[in-house]
Amino acid sequence: MQPDVRDLERLRVVFARHLGRPGPSHVVRAPGRVNLIGEHIDYNGLAVLPMAIQRNIVVLFRANADATVRVANANDAFPPREFALSASIPPFAAGDWGNYLKAAVQALAAECDVRIGFDAVVGSTLPIAAGVSSSSALVIAVALALARVNDLEIPALDLAERMAHAERYVGTHGGAMDQAICLMAQPGTASRIDFDPLRATPVPIPDHWRFIIAHSLAQAEKSGAVRDEYNRRTRQCRRALERVSAHLGIAPSRATYRTVMAARPVAQLLGAAESCLDGTLLKRFRHVVTEADRVHRAERALRDADLDRFGRLVQESQASLRDDYEVSTRALDEIAEIAGAAGAVGARLTGAGMGGCAIALARSETVDDVVHALGERFYGPRDFTGSVEDHLFVAEPAGAASVTSVS
Ligand code: GLA
Repeated sequence: MQPDVRDLERLRVVFARHLGRPGPSHVVRAPGRVNLIGEHIDYNGLAVLPMAIQRNIVVLFRANADATVRVANANDAFPPREFALSASIPPFAAGDWGNYLKAAVQALAAECDVRIGFDAVVGSTLPIAAGVSSSSALVIAVALALARVNDLEIPALDLAERMAHAERYVGTHGGAMDQAICLMAQPGTASRIDFDPLRATPVPIPDHWRFIIAHSLAQAEKSGAVRDEYNRRTRQCRRALERVSAHLGIAPSRATYRTVMAARPVAQLLGAAESCLDGTLLKRFRHVVTEADRVHRAERALRDADLDRFGRLVQESQASLRDDYEVSTRALDEIAEIAGAAGAVGARLTGAGMGGCAIALARSETVDDVVHALGERFYGPRDFTGSVEDHLFVAEPAGAASVTSVS
């Protein structure tokens, strides 16, 4: 679902109210994503399998003449923000949404010839802080707007890599999955994203597969509480890797998850890990290598259009994220259980977890049953703002971010 004409008209009204005349010249649409499988392994350099979805961050913008970035938000919870173009921009307070704008602008200004600022309004058809990558979509949208007003042509993979790095501005040491899928997605497909070097390989999604997205109603704000837990896990993965590679006699300079996975089959690696790791580090290592293995098997299942096999891998992924990586929540587990009982072939948290969304995979014939069961049993007894459709919807595999003229 692209934002329809009404959404754009509403954004134009917000634009006129905050930024006056002339009106906007362009619109950027940057999609959110769901990761089908491959969670918490992108920052370990291991391939993942996300797809872009039909819900977007939408940015209406026009160039300005005072080297400033001025951005209003259609959602009143996010006050207008303004700052000068610079290669070194002091952040707003931690957790402020404007830091995502600054992240993109500072990174481009530091490396490209950026002299022209822009005035913009941001709207969203994505649930915010829900694990469907609204923040990376915002960063990408801002980067594309700034690139457009400065006539910069930046290849998509190059921009994805730069923006993944740029997001460290908000303090999260994430991988590049979200930025890559936002810029590289093709309609009707998921993409296997590989790292070092970053690349995207589209894999068609069979017509009768349906992905249901259900928000657990707990926010997972990347620049907020989740950030410390997320960064802690990236450090634990690194420590586990160092120990296992030392145990296997792999030189520290060559110690990557890709190298250890190439050195031994998964079962042997787990055996090696048991003799040099324990407790939390063993669990984290086990999640990373089994999840990487599941991604490869899931890609094959997708290419074979084998929904049940894919569904079993999704189930295993959720168990591993719950028990070994410890990023699920009771609500996410409950969504997975309800979806499974209603006929989904698999369900799991998607994104960083610790709140945010779950994704359930179902055949087209059972999708209504799953949506209905979640509506009744998960959302029915709970209080929330907005309608059920804001939190529970069927994802469609969408294309990459784009900039189009609106004047
Ligand atoms: C967040 C990060 C991604 C990825 C996921 C977990 O969404 O932005 O890079 O690490 O968490 O898979």
